[in-house]
This record gives sequence, C-alpha cells and structure tokens, in this order.
Amino acid sequence: MIVAMDGPAGAGKSTVARRVASQLGYSYLDTGALYRAAALQARRRGLAFEDTPEMRRMMAEIRIAFDGVRVILDGEDVSEAIRSPEISHYASVISAIPVVRQMLLPLQRRVGEAQDVVAEGRDMGTVVFPDAEFKYFLDATAEERARRRFLELHQKETNTTMEQVLEEMRMRDERDSSRVAAPLRKAADAVYILTDGMSVDEIVESIVERVTT
Ligand code: DC
Repeated sequence: MIVAMDGPAGAGKSTVARRVASQLGYSYLDTGALYRAAALQARRRGLAFEDTPEMRRMMAEIRIAFDGVRVILDGEDVSEAIRSPEISHYASVISAIPVVRQMLLPLQRRVGEAQDVVAEGRDMGTVVFPDAEFKYFLDATAEERARRRFLELHQKETNTTMEQVLEEMRMRDERDSSRVAAPLRKAADAVYILTDGMSVDEIVESIVERVTT
C-alpha cells in the first residue's frame, strides 16, 4: 500500500506523513532528503549545478540511505547538515536537473515496492507512484507556510528574519513548480487539503481513517 503525499515547502507534509506512517505501521519515505543529500554532495565537490559529466558521475556513485529518521550519505550521518537554508536552496536547484531526478527514481520506487509506505515529496502522486492507492496534496497559504518554517528555523537559533524565510520559500516554490521535469503539481486524483487553521491531529486522523476503512 502506498500513501503519496505532495505539496509545497512548509505545508506540513513531513509532520503529517511521519505521524500517518507511524499510526498505520508503514515506513516513511522523505524524498526531499534524497535531493538534499545530492545537493550537499555536489556542494562539497564544488560542482556546477548542471547536467555535466561530473554531476552524472556523482549521481552514479552516490549512496544515500534513509531509515525513516537518519539520512546517511556515503556512510556519514548528514541528517542535520542537509537541513540548512543553503541546502534547501541547492536541493531545489539540483532537483530541476532531469538526469538527477531520473537517477533517484529507482531508489524511490524500490522502497515503495518492498513495503507499505507513506511517501512524501513533490511528484509522488504524479511521477514516482502514479498508481498509489491514496494520494494527498497538502497546501497552506504562503504566509502560514513561512510562519511554520520560521518557527522551525528559530528553534535552531538561526538569525533569519521572517521576510527572508518568506522570500526564500517563494523562490523555491516558483522553481519547484515551474521546472520542466516533474514539477510540483497536484495529481488529478489526489485529495487536496488546505491545512491553514487545521491541527496536525485533525489531518492525520482524516487520512488514517480513509486508509483503514
Ligand atoms: O521537501 P523538502 O523541502 O525537503 O525538499 C527539498 C527540495 O527537493 C525541494 O525544494 C524540491 C526537491 N524535491 C523534489 O523536487 N521532488 C521531491 N519528490 C522531493 C523534493
């Protein structure tokens, strides 16, 4: 069984997907973490964020493991390192390169074939798991999404302002939605949830109820 969950940054996907997976006893697949790990690796190697032979080589060699909590890149735990604003930006940039998406596709599908999974990202319902039994598109207004991301960043004591978060998010959404390769889009058969004013419990409950009945 696959529950596909897409939506823009800050829509509440990760929190909801994690909780739904835990309540259903399914695995949780955070596909954004894969793009983030690839972006981190490319930055460390000083690569141009383009379809170059070096980028293809890196993608062919890269080993990313995700156990539902920690992200391991070539044997190193990069769970924290991939969450910086810098890597958020570069993950969005690298994810627009078609060959990068293509090379991360089998990895994602393999997870879905091997177990029941709640998979979260931008193209779960449209490209990676078009036949998923359940599809959701989680959304929230830009202000609400920026507010959530701001609170999240603030817990880590960064000195980013609310305006910077809003601007960074706007640019990232624009890039993720306008790219040619698997843009952020609601699948025609996905259930749309606007999460403004809804509690996490409420959203999780409605999804779990539908999947289990
Ligand atoms: O969900 P996230 O914020 O961790 O994702 C980081 C970036 O990765 C996001 O800006 C776009 C990209 N991404 C993608 O293109 N496709 C996915 N399935 C997941 C993430």
